[in-house]
Amino acid sequence: MENFKVQNGKAVREAKRRVHHFAMLKQRGQKIVMVTAYDYPTGLAADAAGVDAVLVGDSLGMVALGFDQTIPVTMDMMIHHTAAVRRAVKRAFLIGDLPFLSYKVSPEQALTNAGRFVQEAGAEAVKLEGGGEVAPMITKIVTAGIPVMGHIGLMPQSLHKHGGYRVQGRQNETAQMLVEDAKAIEHAGVFALVAEAVDPEAAAEICAAVSIPVIGIGASRICDGQVLVLSDLVGAIPAPPPKFVKRYTSVYDTMEGAIREFCGDVRSGKFPQEQHEY
Ligand code: KIV
Repeated sequence: MENFKVQNGKAVREAKRRVHHFAMLKQRGQKIVMVTAYDYPTGLAADAAGVDAVLVGDSLGMVALGFDQTIPVTMDMMIHHTAAVRRAVKRAFLIGDLPFLSYKVSPEQALTNAGRFVQEAGAEAVKLEGGGEVAPMITKIVTAGIPVMGHIGLMPQSLHKHGGYRVQGRQNETAQMLVEDAKAIEHAGVFALVAEAVDPEAAAEICAAVSIPVIGIGASRICDGQVLVLSDLVGAIPAPPPKFVKRYTSVYDTMEGAIREFCGDVRSGKFPQEQHEY
């Protein structure tokens, strides 16, 4: 599926997004758009809509597999779903999310698992959560030729350490720690970083402190781009979304309504009709 933009009155095919586009878009002052996807249909829709990047997030565990947190998500689950999204995504840059404890044991473990994303699932980069403590893992992966996206602020894999899903960087001291983490992972080699649930002033400090693009999720308008969990954006599950989400539609209601109608049609004999028969 091709994407086009209008340039000088002409439809021009948009380039396949690659890692260097992140810096290029930031330099041009163009906002970077990323969404998550978890399977073939969500990958197709995200790519056709023209996002810059698709992240197969470990939010997969919560929005597609029914867990109440991301910690149970394994490498095998991530590989299975990333490979499905890969079959759909042709133009956007595809990033796989390293799940809980798949990269924090050692730089070698981090590289092995990052390599699985690229080799087995066709991802073009990986994302991992953490600040200075994951710098050696980032450097190891990047040195082997795999781009890495960072993730600071609220890190769902550190749920128990954070004591819940809380806004990060509200105090001067914690804001300063976020800035130091952002600088450390930039120095280690990430091409961009996600800042999740970060106080707007802290987000501004992070953006001012690094030269890589900062992609926000609940981290204010200041960021160089925005990412949302696709299921939140389209209302794919009935739970109320977090404050920072803009819900554009309700896929769940549409789906449930259609299934209800099908139930009614079958039970009343309205479906199938002659045109549905061979
Ligand atoms: O797992 C995920 O979907 C993420 C996004 C919230 C950035 O990490």
